[in-house]
Parts: sequence; C-alpha cells; structure tokens
Amino acid sequence: MLSSQLMSVAFILFLALSPVYGSFDQLQLVLTWPPSFCHEKSCNRIPRNFTIHGLWPDNQHVMLNDCAKTFKKITDVLKSKELDDRWPDLKYSRNNAIQTQSFWRYEYNKHGTCCSQRYNQQAYFDIAKNLKDKFDLLQILKKKGIIPGKTYTVDKIEEAIREVTQAYPNLNCIGDPQNTMELKEVGICFEPDATTVTACHRRRTCNPQNKKEISFPL
Ligand SMILES: *[C@@H]1O[C@H](CO)[C@@H](O)[C@H](O)[C@H]1NC(C)=O
Repeated sequence: MLSSQLMSVAFILFLALSPVYGSFDQLQLVLTWPPSFCHEKSCNRIPRNFTIHGLWPDNQHVMLNDCAKTFKKITDVLKSKELDDRWPDLKYSRNNAIQTQSFWRYEYNKHGTCCSQRYNQQAYFDIAKNLKDKFDLLQILKKKGIIPGKTYTVDKIEEAIREVTQAYPNLNCIGDPQNTMELKEVGICFEPDATTVTACHRRRTCNPQNKKEISFPL
C-alpha cells in the first residue's frame, strides 16, 4: 500500500522533472551581436546586424535541453537562404553554412525539440525568423540614439528595448567587469504562443563594475 503510493509520487515527480514530458512555458529568442561574438570566436563573416543564436523553450522549474535528435535538413532553397540571412553560422561562409546546416541542427536538437509537441521543425524555424524581423533590434536601439561604435549604460540599453517589447530583455556581455564590457547577446522572452513578450524566468544582465558603460562595438 505504502509502496504503491510512493511509486505514484515518484512517477509524478518523474513526469514533472523529465524534460521530455515537462512542457515549456516560455520561449526565449536569443540574438547575437556579431562583432562582439567574433572577438571571442574566429568568424568567416561579421554582419553588422543582430543575428539569431537560438529560440529556446524553457520551463520555470526545469531547464529544457536535448529532448530528441530529430533535425531534418532544410531542403527548400529559398527557406534556407532566408534563414541564413537571419540565423547565419558566423564561423562558416553562407554556402558552407547552408550546405552543412550544423548550427541549425545543433540548436534544433538541443532546444527546438523541446517544443516540438506544439511547433514542428518548420514552424519552429519560421517563428524564429518572424520574431527576428518583428523585433528589429538594431532599429529599436537606433531610435533611442544607440548606435554601434559607442558605449552606453546597461540601463539605457535595457530601457530602449523594454519600451518596445514591454518587458525587460536579458543581456549578456563579454569581457572583464573591471574594464569595458561588450554587449554580445540580447534575449527576449515570449509566452508559448510566441507572440506575447513576457519577463524572462532567469533574468540575466551585464554587471560592469561601478555601473561603467558597456560597449556596443562596431
Ligand atoms: C537587420 O535585420 C532586420 C531584421 O531581420 C532587417 O529588417 C533589417 O533591414 C536589417 N538592418 C540592416 C541595416 O541590414
């Protein structure tokens, strides 16, 4: 009797904690600023526009990762070009990236598969592409006078984005907090409908020492 109750509890816990069964309650669009990314990694191309790092389904209580390995190569030539415009593998040329699709494969298997019960692979990549176009971060920042090649406070960058999205973005910087940090990534979180912006579960920002300005490098 007791052991069957324990079994039920264990089973419910298993369901709640297992990434395969636990459903996502948030989607984070993570955008990269290539000039900063390419200060750390060797790049084949450095577009001066934000590019997609990934679209990450997540759960308030469990991090969702590696839910399956089901990526299928995108064979539609137009779709793969449209995707490369926004979600390039910066380490490789356009032709190589579209040929191998290793970045898309990695991101889809690690993250995309964790929302595949709601969005199939094609829907997943379409959502990422459409959200990237909907939130033209370069333009959003420019409207507030934030342009590449200068330094800004973390507050100013966060507020410029929040004014448009209505929720705080996640920021991720590279560099030593005692020196000038560089803005590398911006995350915008959405409800599972992939439309409504929401506060990110795990808030992340840059913490330069003495609230020093951070660089948005050219
Ligand atoms: C940057 O990317 C956005 C969204 O994909 C696009 O609409 C915009 O035209 C691009 N801006 C520049 C300067 O290329």
